[in-house]
Amino acid sequence: MLKIFWPIFFVIVAIHGNPVSETRRFPQDFLWGVGSSAYQIEGGWNADDKGESIWDHLVHTHPEKIDDQSGADVTADSYHQWRRDVQMVKELHASTYRFSLSWPRIMPGGYMNHVSTAGIKYYSNLIDELLRYNITPMVTIYHWDLPQRLQELGGWTNPEIIPAFKDYARLVLEMFGDRVKLWTTINEPYQICEMGYGLDYMAPSYKYPGIPSYLCGHNLLKAHAEVVHMYREQFQKRQGGRIGITLSSSGFAPRNPDSAEDREAAERGFQFFVGWFAHPIFSRHGNYPKIVIDRIRNLSKEQGFTRSRLPEFTQAEIHRIRGTADFFGLNTYTTYLATTNGHNNTGNFPVPSFDHDMGIIYNHDGVDWPSSGSVWLKSYPKGIYDLIKWIHHQYNGPEIMVTENGVSDRGGLEDYARVDYLNSYLSAVLDAIEDGVNVSGYIVWSLMDSYEWKAGFNEKFGLYHVDFTSPERTRTPKISARVYTHICKNNGINWSYRPTLNKEQLVAMAQLPAEDLAGISGAKANTGTWHWCWSLTLLVSLLRRVSE
Ligand code: BGC
Repeated sequence: MLKIFWPIFFVIVAIHGNPVSETRRFPQDFLWGVGSSAYQIEGGWNADDKGESIWDHLVHTHPEKIDDQSGADVTADSYHQWRRDVQMVKELHASTYRFSLSWPRIMPGGYMNHVSTAGIKYYSNLIDELLRYNITPMVTIYHWDLPQRLQELGGWTNPEIIPAFKDYARLVLEMFGDRVKLWTTINEPYQICEMGYGLDYMAPSYKYPGIPSYLCGHNLLKAHAEVVHMYREQFQKRQGGRIGITLSSSGFAPRNPDSAEDREAAERGFQFFVGWFAHPIFSRHGNYPKIVIDRIRNLSKEQGFTRSRLPEFTQAEIHRIRGTADFFGLNTYTTYLATTNGHNNTGNFPVPSFDHDMGIIYNHDGVDWPSSGSVWLKSYPKGIYDLIKWIHHQYNGPEIMVTENGVSDRGGLEDYARVDYLNSYLSAVLDAIEDGVNVSGYIVWSLMDSYEWKAGFNEKFGLYHVDFTSPERTRTPKISARVYTHICKNNGINWSYRPTLNKEQLVAMAQLPAEDLAGISGAKANTGTWHWCWSLTLLVSLLRRVSE
């Protein structure tokens, strides 16, 4: 392999100049951003008159469900440190900051009868501060922190959520829409519905597989559509903004690319994970994907249900939901290899369940892709390329905005593994753009280390390190923050830019809490493998370009 690698590499370098020191640039108006979400960073869980959210409730009543038994009562304390947050976005030269609004901070009980002036003021100040520095606020209306009082009514499984969400959205559009021009309604419906209701992974942690996730999804799609119609009819003309939704999916690749059955399994993965929510909104005819409808209907019948566990839309509803997004927000982190589950349920999925309905076994078994601080996340840059292309082809070339992409580690400032992840995923995004896919922006997850849901504070996704032991939750740029600054400033990636720690970072590092030191050695150990990986990625990408 090596014998072939270097001669080809040098020939290509001779033809194209030195690619390692060159910047691969993105289209001129490409949007560069960083993201966060309210529950993960704000803290102030009961500050002023804020109401309880389902996450407050979960971590306070069942701390044992969280890896480190922690909660986000204070977390990065952005409720008080928001000025520093804006400064960080500015330091990064990112043009956009994606953050979410906490429904119970604004409407403590979920309804309009009680609106919190302090909550409105908090977000209003944050938005003004961003605009002061010419940073575009991109606001997620809902990122998982439902008011607990609404959960007591069944949360997203109760159609009552539709008018409630619409009221909440109307209020925030009225309050902030004069200054916010980029909106998404809801972050990651799959995680909300399947991980929260089907599994035990997210609040409200129902662990009730096979039925409530589909009720949740159904109501969520209708609630989303109502808000978009309301925005278009009452706000968009006057305020001049854009609104979309953020969907999540991993990539799926056939475990054995030569097996037709495995290729079908990967396709089913896309149809269930992406199609469940994307097909009703972005496809030509709307509604859930046919394969999803058919499989759930048939399995429901076999299982003795009198109706499909997947609710049906009326024609009017199909029509109302279709087309309700100005862009496709995509969150993606990893790729899985898929095989079919088969009739004897070799995957041992609960019956009924979403996974059993989908009928695929998907995992990372046997892959040697670079790992991360999260067991579920391994780096496979080609996965984002394939996923973006799949969306492009399925849904007739919508504008795609990568609203989340990033990687976790276990701490430290020398996060070269994150640098390599970002460079290689961005290269793959650029490959897709050069192949004609309309990708308009990229938002790194995340601006800073924060509360990583059930993983607590163990898994870190930040470009900025947060010292969770210091009273002011001191933020320090990691190496990746400096690299991302370089990317934003130059509108492109340059693999050769790999700075070492500067003075500010060295001083900060000397004060890092002990648990971060483990992370530092982990990050260093990774860099050798990564150098190899990026050399190979580079070679593959150059070969592609040469062969075109
Ligand atoms: C979520 C974030 C989360 C990230 C990493 C996304 O699914 O939107 O809130 O921190 O993944 O797990």
